[in-house]
Amino acid sequence: MDLQLTGRRALVTGASRGIGRAIAKSLAAEGARVAICARGQEGVDLALAELRALGVEAYGESIDMRDNAALEGFVSRVATQFGGLDLVVSNVSTRPEAPQGEARWRQAFEADLLHHVRLTDLTVPFLLKGQQPSLVFLASIAANMKQLMPEEVAYGAFKAALVNYAGHLSERYGRKGLRVNTVSPSPIYFKGGAWDVFERENPKMFEAVKAMTPLGRFGTPQEVANAVAFLLSPVASYITGVNLRIDGGMLKTTNF
Ligand SMILES: NC(=O)c1ccc[n+]([C@@H]2O[C@H](COP(=O)([O-])OP(=O)(O)OC[C@H]3O[C@@H](n4cnc5c(N)ncnc54)[C@H](OP(=O)(O)O)[C@@H]3O)[C@@H](O)[C@H]2O)c1
Repeated sequence: MDLQLTGRRALVTGASRGIGRAIAKSLAAEGARVAICARGQEGVDLALAELRALGVEAYGESIDMRDNAALEGFVSRVATQFGGLDLVVSNVSTRPEAPQGEARWRQAFEADLLHHVRLTDLTVPFLLKGQQPSLVFLASIAANMKQLMPEEVAYGAFKAALVNYAGHLSERYGRKGLRVNTVSPSPIYFKGGAWDVFERENPKMFEAVKAMTPLGRFGTPQEVANAVAFLLSPVASYITGVNLRIDGGMLKTTNF
């Protein structure tokens, strides 16, 4: 299916590895122009080379999403470079460093909610002038689950808030032509990702989590990217306000 993304101007945050990188690559493979960011310059450079090898224009910067001024500058330079924006994927999540308590909650708030709001505020003015614009947030099925691991409580709570926020945006901007959706993956496995570490450090738990999925395996970044590319595309023109689970059936509730 042609996703009709040729020439579209896309921005994907956190695209130097994992899910974000697979999304950026999928959009480039569909002919979109893609801007990316991450903190590590080396990862940005490698991802940019991969995107350009697909024959599209690609732009990237090393920034920390939690740095307001840096984010503002990045969005402004991307919009100048591309002459506007049509598609935005707000993907970044940063693991808090504080082990517990209020400090961890504050860091998780910055890492899993506030930068999504800032990115929205900065990019919506461009999206509203864009061509069939679409905005997708990366949440998680952790939003729906009662967290068993204490260090995941704030992550789940803020991902739930993100889904709620995206619903609000879909209502607010629908009549202006902007669609807003969320995707919620279950554990997604890739080398260098969190579950790769988990597999080595806690193999028993790793296998137990895998066994919870009816499909009997972890998802891949590409499987998430496929759904995000679809939601971003005009092919999904009547879909807004949705939180799409990409979880191999892991959540044990009917999804309606
Ligand atoms: N992987 C899973 O199992 C899973 C499951 C459910 C939901 N999700 C969600 O899917 C999204 C992507 O997950 P992932 O596993 O692919 O993430 P990841 O491996 O942690 O990669 C995150 C990307 O964002 C960048 N990044 C992290 N913090 C940043 C910051 N403060 N500023 C700028 N860039 C930053 C990273 O590069 P640098 O480190 O160089 O900055 C990297 O490119 C996240 O929102 C996550 O919560 C993931």
